[in-house]
Amino acid sequence: MIKVITYGTFDLFHQGHIKLLERAKALGDYLIVGVTTEHFDEARGKVNVIDSCLERVDNVRKTGLADEIIIEDHIDQKMEDIQKYGIDIFTVGSDWEGTFDYLKTLCKVVYLERTPNISSTMLRKNHFKIVRTGIIGTGRIAPRFVAEGKYVSGMNIVSAYNPEKESGSRFEKKYEIPVCNDDYELFLEGVDAVYIASPNETHYEYAKAAIAAGKHVLCENPVALKKKDTMQLFSLAREHGVVLLEGIKTAYCPGFQQLINTARGGKIGELRDIEACFTRLADIGSRERTDRFFGGAFLEYAAYTLLPIFKLYGTNYQDISIHSIYDENGIDVYTKIELVYKHGLATAKCGVGVKTEGQLVIAGTQGYILAESPWWLTRKYQIRYENPNEIETYEPKFQGDGLRYEMSEFVAKINGIDKNGYLLTEDEILAIAEITERYLEQKQEQTGK
Ligand code: CTP
Repeated sequence: MIKVITYGTFDLFHQGHIKLLERAKALGDYLIVGVTTEHFDEARGKVNVIDSCLERVDNVRKTGLADEIIIEDHIDQKMEDIQKYGIDIFTVGSDWEGTFDYLKTLCKVVYLERTPNISSTMLRKNHFKIVRTGIIGTGRIAPRFVAEGKYVSGMNIVSAYNPEKESGSRFEKKYEIPVCNDDYELFLEGVDAVYIASPNETHYEYAKAAIAAGKHVLCENPVALKKKDTMQLFSLAREHGVVLLEGIKTAYCPGFQQLINTARGGKIGELRDIEACFTRLADIGSRERTDRFFGGAFLEYAAYTLLPIFKLYGTNYQDISIHSIYDENGIDVYTKIELVYKHGLATAKCGVGVKTEGQLVIAGTQGYILAESPWWLTRKYQIRYENPNEIETYEPKFQGDGLRYEMSEFVAKINGIDKNGYLLTEDEILAIAEITERYLEQKQEQTGK
């Protein structure tokens, strides 16, 4: 018996898919069809798939051509499957010509002529249009956004804005993305959405003007330095029918949500203490160490460290205290936030001039979760118990530097797909904004800056 295998997303099932499956079937006696999961497609940058995995499986099943349907959920699975199912022929459409030649050591590889003039992408275009995105601020994070953008379908980075001519033109030369220096409104005219990665204190004004011009906004944390301004931006976004997403990257990393659900799942019992720490020694000449108003550890990292606390305990804490160590310029090189809840305690620690173990520890009545640095990307975490030999290790999937996940979510939201709102809620953002405002007031009192 000749066994054949083929894979695909099979979104918006069309003639090209049917023709491929017919010919794949004709290559042998038994056809296995691998259908991708949503997670796998997301990780590959296919964020705008419309049909759910089950609908796509169902459409393949209805053709009656597949003898067996399997799920494809990770990148190197094809090699595993070929061995596992004793496959003789691997086949896909000619758009993949050459890509899977490495499988020839395991079985025969056949590229079938692609059916012209039809694709899921074409059909999706009737549903979604490409989001033309402009980057505001061409500093350290902008190049990462450009690099990660290559993995996010549905988004085109078309321009950038930076009032500082010199750094703008350096960026323009290096990344071949036109940078506008003066006319912000003109810059906005050429885009559907903006990514704000400028200095912290400028976020609010840029976001407000972009929203007012009907543009979607993905803004690095914090979107504003005051709670009322943050609220105002969200209601303005609702009023104008645009998406406002705050870029706390961790919230969108798939492993982070898994970790949170593990903690909620009861394996470590009732949660009693959370300690989240994020430190990175910043260069002495860097903005973090020189901007006496908006540099420092809190504004850099507090949102990340507060996030797991709010996710697990909620935002109704009973008490809060914030302690900072300032350098001679009044910049907080280290800040510790302590929160008291009815049934649990929490500490968030951040540093730009003090180094310590950057870990997340969630302590419960039966055991604890330990996620070591960089827990904010959540590539790995462990459950540990009283018995030191009893350790459960989790290694969730993670791609690139993590920015692609928030970018994908942004594009999905713009396209009206709003199933992931729970990843970072407005309530959580406002709670972070409230603490930020409190911190800035306290800093003003303590340092006069
Ligand atoms: N296929 C084909 N002819 C087409 C479209 C797809 O033969 N006109 C084949 C692909 O080469 C692949 C299989 O069908 O082997 C599943 O493809 P999939 O990626 O799911 O479909 P596309 O329409 O190519 O999807 P997209 O536009 O999202 O890439």
